[in-house]
Amino acid sequence: MKVLVTGGAGYIGSHTCVELLEAGHSVVAVDNLCNSGKKSLDRVREITGKELDFYEGDLRDEGLLERIFRQHKIDCVIHFAALKAVGESVKKPLEYYGNNIGATLSLCRAMDKAGVRKLVFSSSATVYSADNRMPLSENAKTGDCTNPYGWSKYICERIVSDFAASDNSRRVAVLRYFNPVGAHPSGKLGEDPKGVPNNLMPYITQTVLGRRECLNIFGDDYPTPDGTGVRDYIHIVDLARGHLSALEYIDGRPGVSVFNLGTGKGVSVREMVAAFEKVNGVTVPCRIAPRRAGDLAVCYADAEKSAKELGWSAFRTIEDMCRDSWNWQKNNPNGFEE
Ligand code: NAD
Ligand code: WQD
Repeated sequence: MKVLVTGGAGYIGSHTCVELLEAGHSVVAVDNLCNSGKKSLDRVREITGKELDFYEGDLRDEGLLERIFRQHKIDCVIHFAALKAVGESVKKPLEYYGNNIGATLSLCRAMDKAGVRKLVFSSSATVYSADNRMPLSENAKTGDCTNPYGWSKYICERIVSDFAASDNSRRVAVLRYFNPVGAHPSGKLGEDPKGVPNNLMPYITQTVLGRRECLNIFGDDYPTPDGTGVRDYIHIVDLARGHLSALEYIDGRPGVSVFNLGTGKGVSVREMVAAFEKVNGVTVPCRIAPRRAGDLAVCYADAEKSAKELGWSAFRTIEDMCRDSWNWQKNNPNGFEE
């Protein structure tokens, strides 16, 4: 298949490009590089020994998308391109709505014009309401999001679902990711956040590296076994492969299909830190800090539907995630920058 990967230079996009190329697909990537750089795509080429086409530009530029669809016979699109920082979205709601919804609308319009029928959309566990019981199955309640980023994903899910429903030859998969972490086992590709990391794993790796003084554990008084927050961390390579399963799955299924991409297991902050220290033989300096506004105590997936229907499960362990994250970070202390 020839796959258009939007946001292809980003963390999840670049790892998915590797898996697509290694499975024998052709890849066309598009990215405006607002949160990434071209180096990640050079690393994709280095790891796979294969070429991919790259267009630098914004998805809201419909002329660019029309040109891409004219120049390539695209079979399906995987749509990663979005802004994703929860805190920033509260400060810049219009930027988040404008970018995430604008990009999705212009992509759907260009797909419509070009007659491209298959779409895999990157959604997030953040679309689930906070009052659900764990684990979260795909039919748990959604909405009541606590920030504009979450709402933008919720609205885009609606857009791509209505897009699918308006023509029965369209096939759309909505994938709700839990907490992607880890890196490619080669150590050549990984997460390279700009500025101070918001997420746990890059904060841990930068702390061990000495770029951060110590990890702030946001709360140790949650109603969890050790008092720290519990999440469903999923290895980036498992996550990337979930997209290949989704492409196969939607091939014969009109309409929209929704899947969680998680492991179904919850891991606490303290457990993650302990695993990181043990597997890498390092110390992670930590201190207990106040709870972070908007955080849930516990969040993990019901992974049964993905296993049964999609035929996909995550099997990489927390130790794999910690080892691969550190391997990437220590080999690339400044990320993709030399
Ligand atoms: P990322 O920032 O590394 O990648 C997103 C890429 O999209 C970046 O390279 C950025 O430059 C590009 N981009 C953004 N807006 C664009 C636009 N208008 N036009 C062209 N390119 C644009 O983020 P990621 O972690 O790889 O996330 C990929 C997708 O997965 C996003 O849609 C995100 O919301 C979703 N997601 C991520 C997580 C996570 O924790 N990383 C969890 C759930 C869902
Ligand atoms: C994990 C746990 C923190 C940092 C976010 C988004 C979500 C999705 C994934 C995109 C929590 C604790 C963290 C730190 C800490 N993204 N923590 N110290 O909040 O589950 O999800 O990323 O869709 O929408 O909200 O992930 O990695 O930020 O936090 O103690 O410095 O680690 O409190 O318990 P989160 P996270």
